[in-house]
Amino acid sequence: MQSKVSVIILSDNSQTRTLLKMYFDELDYVSVLEDFSDYTDIYDTLCTDDKSILVVDVSDGLEEKLNFILKVSNNIRSTRVLALSDNPSVDLIVKVMRAGAKDFLPLPLIKSEFLDIVDRINKSLYCVPKNGSKCKIISVFSNKGGIGKTSIATNLALELAQISKEKVALIDLNFQLGDITTFMELKPSFDISYMLQNLDRINDEFLLSTLERYKQTNLFVLADPPYFKQADDIKPVQIVKLFNILKETFSYIVVDAEASFDAKNIAALTESDLIFLVTVANLPALRNSQRCLELFDKLGFDKNKIQILLNRYMENDEISEEDVENVIGRKIYWKIPNNYFTMMSAINKGIPVCVLNPNSNVANCYKNLAINLTDNIYRDNLMKNYENILGGN
Ligand SMILES: Nc1ncnc2c1ncn2[C@@H]1O[C@H](COP(=O)(O)OP(=O)(O)OP(=O)(O)O)[C@@H](O)[C@H]1O
Ligand SMILES: [Mg+2]
Repeated sequence: MQSKVSVIILSDNSQTRTLLKMYFDELDYVSVLEDFSDYTDIYDTLCTDDKSILVVDVSDGLEEKLNFILKVSNNIRSTRVLALSDNPSVDLIVKVMRAGAKDFLPLPLIKSEFLDIVDRINKSLYCVPKNGSKCKIISVFSNKGGIGKTSIATNLALELAQISKEKVALIDLNFQLGDITTFMELKPSFDISYMLQNLDRINDEFLLSTLERYKQTNLFVLADPPYFKQADDIKPVQIVKLFNILKETFSYIVVDAEASFDAKNIAALTESDLIFLVTVANLPALRNSQRCLELFDKLGFDKNKIQILLNRYMENDEISEEDVENVIGRKIYWKIPNNYFTMMSAINKGIPVCVLNPNSNVANCYKNLAINLTDNIYRDNLMKNYENILGGN
């Protein structure tokens, strides 16, 4: 027989507490735990529980409760947080979800909705979550070499893993001369060609043991093949298959794409939800970006799928931000400051700048880009999932 799921209710409102307790008492698979002295007491109890649901009413004491949700979701994998609020604005829901709550309901509760969500949470506590179509593929691309793709892909992937607390895969599609393993000082036992030879036997367990986990983070790296010949044997259709398999396990796939329009690379870009086209403020790079955009247009890519990252940005550059936008005919999505010394030092040490120098302007910029992305994705999902809840908000 399965053990019961422990439930802890955290609300400043006694009526909400009583009502929740009443609803939970109707479910024979949960057991509500009560009489806690403080947050530490609750935290310690959750740490010892096999499976638990923490219900947090964030209508009052928002900051304190967000910090607690963050601590629990960062450290206790067996607890799932359900947040409630009597003021369900999009901003608030994004905040609680970013802190780590996986579910949200507005107050006052609608009993059927509440029981539905608890049932879903209960099931999810018993099985490994599958992300399926929720996964976002983000490719970092430029048709010019040496522009900052690997620096961006590596740091963005790492920040996405930290911020979203979900599993992120970082894939090196530079089949001839990949750099990710050097940038992160990794010596993976397996590479992409091994993975492609074993497509038929891949499952969650195989993936997580074959991809190289970066330290104790949620980031898993798939390196380029060590021999040129192996790269030649890879077919575009295999890349698509690989992505489809990875999508089942990972919430984000970040691709360090090759600076070419080779068929494998085009297949990867076609599969991507978002392409960051990286450029810098000099004429050859901008002309190249212009040509890339024309080609993407011919390939029928949605305009919104391609966003411009201006790397090595300097305020007093001879070519201004406005000039860049005029030449390529697109708005800049994100600017990454020029900081050669810090970036070079990180690369030479084999430690991503987000880890080596998290307070540097570049590291902060990568982090804010990841926050911006996760926020937008949460917002999109929210709009799909909670349209009826948010009503006029
Ligand atoms: N924001 C930045 N400020 C200053 N220098 C940077 C910045 N980003 C990257 N660089 C430098 O640019 C060089 C190329 O970076 P990186 O290897 O990430 O580019 P790439 O596009 O992946 O290159 P390749 O085409 O060889 O794969 C490195 O020396 C790196 O230190
Ligand atoms: Mg590179």
